[in-house]
Amino acid sequence: MRTLIKHALAATAPREGVTVKGWVRTRRDAKGFSFLEINDGSCLASLQAIVDSAVTGAEHLHDLTTGASVSVTGNLVASPAAGQKWELRATQVELIGKADTSFPLQKKGHTLEFLRTIAHLRPRSNLFGAVFRTRSRLAHAVHQFFQARDFVYVHTPIVTASDCEGAGEMFRVTTLKGNIDEKPEADFFGRRAYLTVSGQLEAETFACALSNVYTFGPTFRAENSNTARHAAEFWMIEPEMAFCDLAGDMDLAEAFVKAMARHTLEHCAEDLGLFEKFVDKGVRPRLEFVVERPFQRVPYAEAVAILQKSGKTFEFPVEPGANLQSGHERYLTEEHFKSPVTVFDYPRTIKPFYMRLNDDGQTVTAMDVLVPGIGEVIGGSQREERLDQLLENMKFQQLKPEDYWWYVDLRRYGSVPHAGFGLGFERLLMFLTGVGNIRDVIPFARTPGSADF
Ligand code: 4AD
Ligand code: MG
Repeated sequence: MRTLIKHALAATAPREGVTVKGWVRTRRDAKGFSFLEINDGSCLASLQAIVDSAVTGAEHLHDLTTGASVSVTGNLVASPAAGQKWELRATQVELIGKADTSFPLQKKGHTLEFLRTIAHLRPRSNLFGAVFRTRSRLAHAVHQFFQARDFVYVHTPIVTASDCEGAGEMFRVTTLKGNIDEKPEADFFGRRAYLTVSGQLEAETFACALSNVYTFGPTFRAENSNTARHAAEFWMIEPEMAFCDLAGDMDLAEAFVKAMARHTLEHCAEDLGLFEKFVDKGVRPRLEFVVERPFQRVPYAEAVAILQKSGKTFEFPVEPGANLQSGHERYLTEEHFKSPVTVFDYPRTIKPFYMRLNDDGQTVTAMDVLVPGIGEVIGGSQREERLDQLLENMKFQQLKPEDYWWYVDLRRYGSVPHAGFGLGFERLLMFLTGVGNIRDVIPFARTPGSADF
């Protein structure tokens, strides 16, 4: 039976007859024996095997080069070497798959840019192993967080006909050839269809039946922004709560970010150590800070005033009534508040139709959570639950109510105040690991001009 290296290294006493399988990181030869450093991805650490040249299979040692796959059986004994508690004294070694000298992960110190070109092999590096183990643990933590609070997980569709954000950033899905706009009713779905930009509208219908729900799935945006924090395909977590207002929404958003930071500290400690050492020295104190301290909250108008008074020259000037740019967001969270901050009550002109209009007639119950190093990690709002006002909002944004008839229906039949938000999973991962480019927290990034692998 195979033992994962993670479990082998967690042994509390020596063990005989342990078999590990993995990939050779390095081999060092000495007189009469060799050291094999084996990693199987179950944890950051590798296991050192000591292979006497007399053991079964040792005649293939010269083929056990970096990148080759191997099975080693032996006795797990306390290691005299520094930095490792256990080592494996091999009694049998088996070469499973060779890797020749063209294996690209021979040396340490490859650039992230180079590693992106070998996205099929980079999970075998320490950094990417750590990133994707952390991604997996946090995905689990997302479900734990919501399930523990009685939220129901809803799988909203990936192919949709409605543009939730109204930003026109949707990828068209079609089987038509030639002019795809000539006869959309002849298309596969009998109409124009797109990849979803958000599961929110569908999630709202479920919240108006099951009370508290969440979605967690892939999301697509044909946004032509080649930045470190935009991907064309990313994963979004979208909770939606019935009988909830903006304050309740902000409470949940903040509790959620805190819980994810706490989970990283408690359950990803070994990998976090690597991020701290090689990616971002400040990552652990930042997570501790986020867990301990309350987030700040500030209305949009006040945030703009702070930016105007800052005396800073931003790449994009601060314009009251306009969207905050990433430089503005980062100034607020990193320099002014020095903590995560939730900005709320944005002008209605820059936000989608579904947000609830405030009594001032000018602002909507929108909220964005901004965090240091990233800027916006969450966007959410209380939804417009009043039928007449929703229809007016649609008119204001030049949308046709017929296109959203089922969404409008929710306001006809037992409408309730409700609220929710969307959190970009990759942006959260960037924040929690310190990794600076969204391309490096997603297994195979899709960005403008790039869909390799
Ligand atoms: O602010 P957004 O556009 O909000 C919505 O889609 C709402 N329908 C959510 C809701 O209320 N249910 O997007 C939400 C979050 C952003 O804060 C950001 O973290 C992430 O999704 N996001 C992106 N992440 C990576 N690449 C992109 N191109 C992203 N666009 C948005
Ligand atoms: Mg947003």
